[in-house]
Amino acid sequence: MEMRGLRLKAIVLLILFVLLVLCSTFDTCNARRSTRHWRARRSSSSSLAQKKGKAKGKGGSHHHGGGGTPKQKPKPDIAYPPSSQVSSLFNVLDFGAKGDGMTDDTKAFQAAWAASCKVEASTMVVPSGSVFLVGPISFSGPYCQPNIIFQLDGKIIAPTSPKAWGSGLLQWLEFTKLRGITIRGNGTIEGQGSVWWTNTQFEDDPALRFYGSTNVTVTGITIQNSPQCHLKFDNCESVLVYNMTVSSPGNSLNTDGIHLQNSRGVTIHHTELGCGDDCISIQTGCSNVYIHNVNCGPGHGISIGGLGRDNTKACVSNITVQYINMHDTMNGVRIKTWQGGSGSVQNIRFSNIQVSEVQTPIVIDQFYCDRSTCKNQTSAVALSGINYENIRGTYTVKPVHFACSDSIPCSDISLTQVDLKPLQERYHMYDPFCWKTYGELYTPTIPPIYCLESGKPTSNRILSDHDSC
Ligand SMILES: *[C@@H]1O[C@H](CO)[C@@H](O)[C@H](O)[C@H]1NC(C)=O
Ligand SMILES: *[C@@H]1O[C@H](CO)[C@@H](O)[C@H](O)[C@H]1NC(C)=O
Ligand SMILES: *[C@@H]1O[C@H](CO)[C@@H](O)[C@H](O)[C@H]1NC(C)=O
Ligand SMILES: *[C@@H]1O[C@H](CO)[C@@H](O)[C@H](O)[C@H]1NC(C)=O
Ligand SMILES: *[C@@H]1O[C@H](CO)[C@@H](O)[C@H](O)[C@H]1NC(C)=O
Repeated sequence: MEMRGLRLKAIVLLILFVLLVLCSTFDTCNARRSTRHWRARRSSSSSLAQKKGKAKGKGGSHHHGGGGTPKQKPKPDIAYPPSSQVSSLFNVLDFGAKGDGMTDDTKAFQAAWAASCKVEASTMVVPSGSVFLVGPISFSGPYCQPNIIFQLDGKIIAPTSPKAWGSGLLQWLEFTKLRGITIRGNGTIEGQGSVWWTNTQFEDDPALRFYGSTNVTVTGITIQNSPQCHLKFDNCESVLVYNMTVSSPGNSLNTDGIHLQNSRGVTIHHTELGCGDDCISIQTGCSNVYIHNVNCGPGHGISIGGLGRDNTKACVSNITVQYINMHDTMNGVRIKTWQGGSGSVQNIRFSNIQVSEVQTPIVIDQFYCDRSTCKNQTSAVALSGINYENIRGTYTVKPVHFACSDSIPCSDISLTQVDLKPLQERYHMYDPFCWKTYGELYTPTIPPIYCLESGKPTSNRILSDHDSC
């Protein structure tokens, strides 16, 4: 019985195989002669392309079994990707990209995107084994179909000539106004930023920027040597970043790792961040942000702010940062605001933070100023409900620095299980510092913190509409 069954199966398989060979030959001879040439190394594409039916749009390549071929089962020996709903693949090589690291492939990327954009849940493929030189480009909705995947297995490099970047540009690779966009793969985005690190004429040129999009996922990839910020989310909702790497030298100027602004519902986890500025920077308009299992360093730590610059209003709430390792960073967890701002920072939790060789692990600075002097002003972004729990390790300058606003002191600051030791006992280190900081120690701390004021600040200003978030 068994044997017969097996032999039968073998025969069926053989017939299927012959049919497949026949029809694929038929397909290649018959149909796509013109621009499309078969590429043997596209293993991942061909396995994804088993879906039947013609792909829409010009770029939809690699489909077997079109036309009059008989109904057939897919090749049994090919593993399906978990999401077999993928309906179309658009490989940049099919749109004229050279991938030699020298030819400008921007137009090919634009064309591949235009094709991907038209098909729901399509995949734009940047294949491994090639290096693509791409200038500033916008992968832009809002008229694209939802749930596009940008499969990055190759390497994308930025032009190094300032001319190629143009003037007044806000980013290099930009994804805007999309519903459901995923960047995944084991590829690299290489900013070639060293020429920029000495030149501060640009405020904010992220290598990869998402704007006004929902359901954004970034995973697997590496972003390195960005001229400035590596990855930025602005006006986004439902963002997931995991298992990815940001890598730039510690002395590269203004190179934030991940920058969040006006974004809600953000989760970042299992990510390696090494750069020359904040590993993660959380700016105004962010709420419900959850960051965990992140390694940070080199860099300036994880920061909320600078908020309230130039008398602006800032609102940040519901931020949780936990299970973080920081090594060789300037700060650990920091909140920084400029004098003169308004609005509030509320309900923040920093827990299970392991620091080593961090200059100042815990920082609140409401006198933040990156110029030589800043005017003293009474208004400030109000800080309350900031919880520190289980912060441990070594520091090199000062364990805790709380400098709160005179007119709007920080309230409801709590510390639990803080255990911070100087890296080298023999050097003079600063003691914990607090100014206008109200809150509670739930457990004794190492070193002891005597400067926290208990209760609520008496001079608490009545918040006006202007301040409410
Ligand atoms: C990256 O992924 C591609 C396609 O999935 C694969 O062919 C390649 O071997 C992978 N490269 C590495 C370095 O893992
Ligand atoms: C985002 O994804 C969630 C869950 O997959 C889905 O319910 C929601 O409709 C999506 N939102 C948009 C705007 O696509
Ligand atoms: C993380 O990403 C790499 C590619 O950079 C991939 O090979 C690996 O399987 C991913 N791991 C998880 C747990 O997703
Ligand atoms: C912050 O969290 C609280 C409690 O979970 C919730 O009620 C509130 O709506 C959240 N704030 C924002 C801006 O989502
Ligand atoms: C601001 O106030 C501080 C503390 O009162 C004072 O030391 C400093 O000189 C003032 N700065 C300016 C620019 O007025």
